[in-house]
Amino acid sequence: MTIKAFVFDAYGTLYDVQSVAGATEAAFPGHGETITQIWRMKQLEYTWLRSAMGAYADFWTVTRDSLAYTLDVLGLSAGEAAITALAEAYNHLAPYPDSLAALDALAGKRLAILSNGSPAMLDALVGNSDLANRFEAVLSIDAARVYKPDPRSYRLVEERMGVKPDEVVFVSSNGFDVAGAKHFGFKVARIARVSAAALHAEIASAAPIPPKTLFKALRMQEEQLGERPDWVIGSLGELPGVIAGL
Ligand code: LAC
Repeated sequence: MTIKAFVFDAYGTLYDVQSVAGATEAAFPGHGETITQIWRMKQLEYTWLRSAMGAYADFWTVTRDSLAYTLDVLGLSAGEAAITALAEAYNHLAPYPDSLAALDALAGKRLAILSNGSPAMLDALVGNSDLANRFEAVLSIDAARVYKPDPRSYRLVEERMGVKPDEVVFVSSNGFDVAGAKHFGFKVARIARVSAAALHAEIASAAPIPPKTLFKALRMQEEQLGERPDWVIGSLGELPGVIAGL
């Protein structure tokens, strides 16, 4: 197997979307947890809906709109300025603790990000973290004006890096992205941050299911879309082991 590049999803894979929790709770005490989960679920839904509608708007718009939706359904009011200020939390996400070490272990390989984030959001996200300068390319689907998992978004990797789909290991923890990337033709490593067994135990121990557990059930598991990842690993820290076997 000839692998020429490793391409990472950003939100939820290298960067922890749950790290907006401090900002959502500070802005709306007592509601932070619910806002964090509905916001992220709705943010992704809006990407899929906009792609299906042929009504592209960039990820900053989607991030603001999905936050406005979330606050509305919770009966919380916020003006434009407050929504923009809270949406900024997505430009300051914490990398997962294992991200830096994994990228360091892959130093010397061709590394890139392919993300739904707008170019400005990705600049801010990567620049605000200690992962800056680790990537040959930070690719935004904005160039294709269609979101993952549309094949036109994944095609940007070949267009910009000159590598064929089956020469790429695509790394994601987002279920829909794993399925979409595999369907497109990438080799795919799924980061299973929450194993099925751990999720079952969490659900069994909590009734009713808290919003964060629901999020794990809906967004962090393997989809049943007939596309299986090539590798399933529990954390980015296990990536070097995958590579050693290539
Ligand atoms: C991204 C989405 C999956 O980073 O959050 O593209």
